[in-house]
Amino acid sequence: MQTSTINIENIRRDFPILQRKVRNNKPLVYFDNAATTQKPIQVINSIHNYYLNYNSNIHRAVHQLAEEATAAYELTRDKVAKFINIKNREELIFVRGTTEAINLVSYSWGRQNVQKGDIVLTTEYEHHSNIVPWQLLTKEKEAKLEYIGVDDNGELILDQLNAYLDTGRVKLVTFSHMSNVLGTITNADEIIKQCHKKGVKVLVDAAQSVPHMKVDLQKLDCDFFAFSAHKMLGPTGVGVLWARKAILENMQPFNGGGDMIREVHKYETTWNDLPYKFEAGTPNIADVIGFSAALDYLENIGMDKVREHEIELTKYALEKMLTIKGIKLYGTPDMKKRGGVISFNLGDIHPHDLATIIDEDGVAIRSGHHCAQVLMERLDVSATSRASFYIYNTKEEVDVFIRSLNRAKELFRI
Ligand SMILES: Cc1ncc(COP(=O)(O)O)c(C=O)c1O
Repeated sequence: MQTSTINIENIRRDFPILQRKVRNNKPLVYFDNAATTQKPIQVINSIHNYYLNYNSNIHRAVHQLAEEATAAYELTRDKVAKFINIKNREELIFVRGTTEAINLVSYSWGRQNVQKGDIVLTTEYEHHSNIVPWQLLTKEKEAKLEYIGVDDNGELILDQLNAYLDTGRVKLVTFSHMSNVLGTITNADEIIKQCHKKGVKVLVDAAQSVPHMKVDLQKLDCDFFAFSAHKMLGPTGVGVLWARKAILENMQPFNGGGDMIREVHKYETTWNDLPYKFEAGTPNIADVIGFSAALDYLENIGMDKVREHEIELTKYALEKMLTIKGIKLYGTPDMKKRGGVISFNLGDIHPHDLATIIDEDGVAIRSGHHCAQVLMERLDVSATSRASFYIYNTKEEVDVFIRSLNRAKELFRI
């Protein structure tokens, strides 16, 4: 139960859900981590403890419970700042998830800065949450949404970036740091360098990267950065938007309401300081506090080790999958350029049928378009199956998965 990097047995003990049996009384093999990860007991206890002992609203009352809840909520902000290595905690805004973070930027920064004829440039391997908000914006503004293409290796065709930048009309380049379908790790440094040479802002959708590798924002040097707690052991309903202070200060608020104001008069309002200007209303206090425990958990393991473990597991799985006749694997075989996500098709078995069959063996994978229909069109398929790994997954589980794929193959006689 061991890869060379981390002690999985110890880790698995912290995840109560991994002890349960699922269909046909089979042990759960959870390979749907790109959708959401499981939660360690430390995260569950932290939320439980908040509701049991110091449930209160934050930032307002002076009583002890409010003080404790505020301190715990704000402590998470400090931990996030450390986790992604940023200097100014006020640049971190808690939102509901990556989707809300991108919508915030599109609605607030986009409406102020994108005009008729401008280009917002994204890529063909984006999640819908990094496409639809830009469609809404560009339609409203009579601007254009354009796409950097994906090559047959599952990598971005970066020459196309420069051609778009040369038009002088690009206002924003926005891309996924790691594709949720292909696992491709985007060459973010290069894109950001090219964009900044031309004064173009960059948004990085880090929903699939921050949970799986060390990301240092002082090195990355983008302008907006978004990710979700639930994909990194944390609770659902919590995400982070980071943006430079100067940009946030010039942006109009996204939501109006309590906490985001300094003074409200009948017809005029002044805004609170950052980050509160963008955190209107009662936030998701319990889950932000729970997120702290998830960050501690990952810090304790070390993100370099998380990445090494996933590389080892993915390599192992890819090798075994390649021995299955009729399998089609998507994405680059180069592990330096990909994370622990494997999309595939097996003969002409529909991914939903395949997922249903292997679910009988307790194996949970994802099937469908993975909220990436533009990419499905590019790959010329309607759907794929997807296995995605995390720190608690083992080679033995990969073996169960492979046996199950072979069983499906026999059932369908391919
Ligand atoms: C690359 C990518 N971006 C954005 C999202 C949206 O994240 P959320 O649903 O947490 O807002 C996902 C979720 O799967 C994703 O994989």
